[in-house]
Amino acid sequence: MSDDLDALRGALLRWYGRERRDLPWRRTTDPYAILVSEVMLQQTQVARVVPRYMEWLERWPDAASLAAASRGEVLAAWVGLGYNRRALALHGAARAVARDGWPADLRTLPGVGPYTAAAVASFAFGAQVAAVDTNAMRVAERLGRGTPEALLAPGRAAEWNQAAMELGATVCTARTPRCDACPVAAWCASAGRPVAKARAARRAERFEDTNRWVRGRVVAALAAGEGLPADIAPDRLDRAVAGLLQDGLVRRVEGRLALD
Ligand code: ADE
Repeated sequence: MSDDLDALRGALLRWYGRERRDLPWRRTTDPYAILVSEVMLQQTQVARVVPRYMEWLERWPDAASLAAASRGEVLAAWVGLGYNRRALALHGAARAVARDGWPADLRTLPGVGPYTAAAVASFAFGAQVAAVDTNAMRVAERLGRGTPEALLAPGRAAEWNQAAMELGATVCTARTPRCDACPVAAWCASAGRPVAKARAARRAERFEDTNRWVRGRVVAALAAGEGLPADIAPDRLDRAVAGLLQDGLVRRVEGRLALD
């Protein structure tokens, strides 16, 4: 059986070597750069993240430079990338690293949960741990060969983690898996099986329809010294502003809204 698992691992790793997308964070082992990429990727698509990641690293190439930036600068640079509190957590993490160096347990850094800690630990520090995001989890569940931890290719965690995510992102997708193009279909318990209806029917929400998008627009307008966007319905603006106030990202100053 373990020979079988080794064959599966070999097939996936060879496929990844051939088909991997050339993404900028896959060309570095710098923990700061990898942390930036992983935080950005937490809620934003790869294609949208790539240019923002490049700009971010140009402006703040290391933890010390980001630590020296103000909250306002960081929030303004984050516009369009998702929840602002993640930007503030990244800023807090940079300050902690600039002050104390990288901690042995990365989860002690603000905004770093089990997935991000495992991703940075394996990609930057060579730790032999599984980084399990939703893609890698779905791949493991469909394969039906044990937990993501059990699947991990011994000694090759970084490559394995990237490969499992890549398969989930490009082939073993949630709604329409392409089992005919899958390098590990021969070992997969779910190959060729229809995807459950509930999952297949779920429609992707347009980014412009989300509260997160409205919040981003509001922060961008305030960062630019403008009033609230005139093209967004008042009830949507109210909800976004209420959330920003509650999160302490925006304040009321003499009746006007301002970035904190
Ligand atoms: N999503 C989260 N982490 C990723 C990575 N390292 N590469 C591609 N997509 C990702």
